[in-house]
Amino acid sequence: MGRLRSKDVLRSDQFAVDEIDWILETAQRFESAIDAGEVLDTMKGLVLATLFFEPSTRTRLSFETAMHRLGGSVITVAEASSSSAAKGESLHDTIKTVEGYADVIVLRHPQIGAAAEAAAATERPVLNAGDGAGQHPTQSLLDLYTILKEQGKVDDLTIALAGDLRNGRTVHSLALLLANYDVKLLFVAPEALRMPPEIVDGVKAAGGDVGETADLGEALREADVLYMTRIQRERFDDPAEYERLKDAFVLRREMLDAAKPNVTIMHPLPRVNEIVPDVDDHPGAAYFRQSANGVPIRMALLALVTGRA
Ligand code: NCD
Repeated sequence: MGRLRSKDVLRSDQFAVDEIDWILETAQRFESAIDAGEVLDTMKGLVLATLFFEPSTRTRLSFETAMHRLGGSVITVAEASSSSAAKGESLHDTIKTVEGYADVIVLRHPQIGAAAEAAAATERPVLNAGDGAGQHPTQSLLDLYTILKEQGKVDDLTIALAGDLRNGRTVHSLALLLANYDVKLLFVAPEALRMPPEIVDGVKAAGGDVGETADLGEALREADVLYMTRIQRERFDDPAEYERLKDAFVLRREMLDAAKPNVTIMHPLPRVNEIVPDVDDHPGAAYFRQSANGVPIRMALLALVTGRA
């Protein structure tokens, strides 16, 4: 599909369903090739720049792994303090500089809208790896890929998104992406951390079926997929408010007795307290498989936006 060529990836609601299908199929193809031990040269001669102005483990490393697996090269800024942003350089000027070095740019930045601003500054494809409390579209694609692999389908599932729905960018992108499917979405959050109205409205406008609750137990009984998230401490102005809410939801192993037998537990990671480690060996605990799925999805995205797939 040439339609993704030279495209930016800024929001999860930018994709048509056939584009989502094509990204997932391309990821599946790359995953099979890697599993078969193939050495790929899809991105040979191309350079990826990963610019991370907020902490990251999985997103940056899986993008870089993806580019290496495709035979391309990587340059990186892993810390804002090590780049000229620390000297007061504007995002525009940083991007104009990096476009002189790299063919495709991945950006994580603390400000909502930063990826769109970067995309406006360059003809190079820009992939949003998280813009503050905004969106995280590449994560939502790997989340969707994980649901498909774990449950064998997406349609007809009840999918509960739990935790800091106000500040969590992964759940914003995932809710909008899942609105393309015939799913029941359950937003599970304390009153202060409810899903922003613009996301709820966006999901409903796309025809999504949405319920809301503050009761994790209720969600656990109903869900085929339970997607837990971290309370986003760095987005709180008041540390006392964070302390009040930080343990709002803690998933313990014994709570899973009330869940459907084939429940899938997901988390974008990092986790803090919200999933007790003894959940990890539950057969439905998919979060480390989920983080591994970031590699084939990001291989697909990099190859598609550069016209190499
Ligand atoms: C998330 C993020 O950075 O938004 N992590 C990730 O990319 N896997 C989730 C989080 O930080 O809570």
